[in-house]
Amino acid sequence: MSDRPDPGSRRSPHLASRLQGLGTTIFAEMSALAEATGSVNLGQGFPDTDGPPEVAEAAVLAIRSGRNQYPPGAGIPELRLAVAEHRLRFYGQALDSDTEVLVTAGATEALTAALLALCETGDEVIVAEPYYDSYPAAAARAGARLRAVPLRPPSWDLDLDALADAVTPRTRLVLVNSPHNPTGRVLRDRELAAIAEICVRHDLLAVTDEVYEHLVYDGRHRPLALYPGMAERTLSVSSAGKTFSFTGWKVGWACGPAPLVAAVRTVKQFLTYVNGAPFQPAVAVALGMPDGYFAAAAAALRQQRDRLCTGLEGLGFGVCLPEAGYFALGDAAPLGVGDAARFCRELPGRVGVVAIPVSAFSEQRPDVASFVRFAFCKRLEVLDEALGRLAGLQGPPAGSPGMTAAPTGPVER
Ligand SMILES: Cc1ncc(COP(=O)(O)O)c(C=O)c1O
Repeated sequence: MSDRPDPGSRRSPHLASRLQGLGTTIFAEMSALAEATGSVNLGQGFPDTDGPPEVAEAAVLAIRSGRNQYPPGAGIPELRLAVAEHRLRFYGQALDSDTEVLVTAGATEALTAALLALCETGDEVIVAEPYYDSYPAAAARAGARLRAVPLRPPSWDLDLDALADAVTPRTRLVLVNSPHNPTGRVLRDRELAAIAEICVRHDLLAVTDEVYEHLVYDGRHRPLALYPGMAERTLSVSSAGKTFSFTGWKVGWACGPAPLVAAVRTVKQFLTYVNGAPFQPAVAVALGMPDGYFAAAAAALRQQRDRLCTGLEGLGFGVCLPEAGYFALGDAAPLGVGDAARFCRELPGRVGVVAIPVSAFSEQRPDVASFVRFAFCKRLEVLDEALGRLAGLQGPPAGSPGMTAAPTGPVER
């Protein structure tokens, strides 16, 4: 047994100073609570059903046919081609699959490698807050500093004045997550245009996180790379996990101008070098699925969104109907909750449900303190079970007999 402390824990004596404070994620804490209490886990952002069987079969076939050794560093040619064809098919963006596409270990590796590759120590990265929790960790590893621009409830509009004010001589790039986790917001045309205008005016790079690109229920996803002056300065990142319900496969990609992709590849080759050999051909199959697949995946999740949001509203939460993604935010203030972090820590014990406070995705932000993130990428019966349990907030206290064990799973962000 190792005597080294958990490298993720707070104030580890062995953890490098630039990483101190990252701590154990609330997701790990909440998942442990879910396990211990038999809670319905709506903290976890992965589906409880598998993706298309033909894609799973393609992975099985790849394993059986011996595609189990290191693939090429940039990813197998057929997947790079499939990524390029996908960008052309859905967005009209033409890419050279040899030089402008890099396969990565999920979007997380692409984003981390991008920050490591593109930022000097002390550089600043502008990002909308709340933000996905790997961003501060990636910035810390790169020695870069996040400059947060608020998305303000209840509309979660991007504060464009704050965006303009956030640019300093140290700004290197803008990290843009749309569709957005945790708000479920799809950036509007005017917001993307403003980001593009600032990038061009100040000669900044952009890195996008588009992992929910196909899970849009209202409006439509617009890649930042398509805006004037952006193709040559944008690294677009996405992954197969969310779109195809195979989050554990961790196959993602970065695409954009060859020099940007080459810089990221330089870092990536010493992080993982490669990953997911048999999953890569399967993801190539997935990206070529007919339009009907993409529409049906979004339609199914839309139904799950509606079920959860209607239920939460009925229970008295202030609900911001998400336009995309896996998550809905509920404002617990109408229930008399001012501190959602405390509320979420108590929730498993009180009613057997796990959810995540939005404060886990931001620094001190009093305006988001009462918001809770619920994952709706779960079967309808699981959502119904969670809602039934949450109704207990209004009824007799916790630990009630008759609570049934609920499906739980691995930690997610
Ligand atoms: C906004 C966002 N980016 C990236 C990821 C991670 O993607 P991957 O699993 O492909 O690394 C997630 C997963 O929850 C996410 O919500």
